[in-house]
Amino acid sequence: MACHAKDTKVVGPAFKDIAAKYAGDATATDKLIAKVKKGGSGAWGSVPMPPNAQLSDADAKALVTWILKMK
Ligand code: HEM
Repeated sequence: MACHAKDTKVVGPAFKDIAAKYAGDATATDKLIAKVKKGGSGAWGSVPMPPNAQLSDADAKALVTWILKMK
């Protein structure tokens, strides 16, 4: 919550911008679940997202599904 917000970029991209970027990409959910758990950089800029390894697969999937529905 310190790094993302729905409508504005904070450290990471706005959730609604993530949803717009991957709209229509059928592989996005699986790709983003892996990215949220492992962390990484390069999709939005050089600032990395740290790993969120404590998340279960089910929780990561619920979060990514929720993010991708934002408009
Ligand atoms: C469980 C918590 C989090 C979720 C669900 C989440 C979700 C996401 C998603 C879906 C993306 C897009 C990745 C892509 O397009 O490849 C992203 C990117 C990013 N997030 Fe997070 N995030 C979380 C925590 C954090 C935290 C704690 C930080 C900061 C310390 C952060 C910083 C970033 C940054 C900098 C990016 C851009 C990475 C890039 O350019 O590839 N995120 N996040």
